[in-house]
Amino acid sequence: MSESGDVGVRDGERAEPIDTSVAHNARVWNYWLGGKDNFEPDRRVGDHVRAMFPVIGEVARADRRFLARAVRHLAGEAGVRQFLDIGTGLPTADNTHQVAQAVAPDARIVYVDNDPMVLVHARALLTSSAEGATDYVEADVHDPASILTAAARTLDFDRPVAVMLLGILNFVLDTDEAVAIVRRLMDAMPPGSYLALTHPTVELGGEANVPAMEFWNANAAPPIRARTGAEIARFLDGLELVEPGLVSCARWRLDDGEEPAVVPQYGCVARRP
Ligand SMILES: C[S@@+](CC[C@H](N)C(=O)[O-])C[C@H]1O[C@@H](n2cnc3c(N)ncnc32)[C@H](O)[C@@H]1O
Repeated sequence: MSESGDVGVRDGERAEPIDTSVAHNARVWNYWLGGKDNFEPDRRVGDHVRAMFPVIGEVARADRRFLARAVRHLAGEAGVRQFLDIGTGLPTADNTHQVAQAVAPDARIVYVDNDPMVLVHARALLTSSAEGATDYVEADVHDPASILTAAARTLDFDRPVAVMLLGILNFVLDTDEAVAIVRRLMDAMPPGSYLALTHPTVELGGEANVPAMEFWNANAAPPIRARTGAEIARFLDGLELVEPGLVSCARWRLDDGEEPAVVPQYGCVARRP
């Protein structure tokens, strides 16, 4: 278990080299969000995708706003104190621990990603409140058993956990495998736990995702896919959807004054009964 007020970095102590010659998702996502943690190949592919799919920057920003609203809801109304955020991305504004601990300073957060650059930044940036804890695990979403073992150092699986899979199941190309991963993770959590997810789609006006993702898969890593609402609903089997259900993430429980928009990225929160 990590010490309170600390960020622990364990599995990543092996210093994996960062390949800057090929565009990588975490860095391109950072570029679309207006961040500075990216390289020329990331910006080149990011610009090309944006030319094919102009709404992508809006998708990225809507996804991050969804994260903030979902975590505030989970830490507030739902009373959750533990978060397992898989596919963290490079640290930016309103990271999960900042949003959760602003509501509940004793919240405990485990971040998981497999990008070596996220690991480097996590070490520097993912700090915790004194009352809570933040840990970082370098692991692959295809290996939920390793994630659960590592997360158990910081999280108590006898108490509710919010499992966050934002923009990550789209990198598990086989839908049956993705469903099995979600089930393995949620089966390890007690009743009263939650799943929060976002996922790109060709619905909701996302037709241009098809050629943009083909370009991505030929020029960047890791390969990605979109899913229909019906395919995404399979991840929610056995869970109870929180209102307003599976919707464009830009429409989920808006804050006062937020404009209801539609971006081709589904978002939802669901409870394990
Ligand atoms: C689109 S970003 C989303 C970041 C953040 N969750 C958000 O919603 O803003 C996807 C993240 O998933 C990570 N990722 C991709 N494939 C992964 C895998 N197989 N295992 C773990 N992380 C992965 C990437 O490195 C990247 O940081």
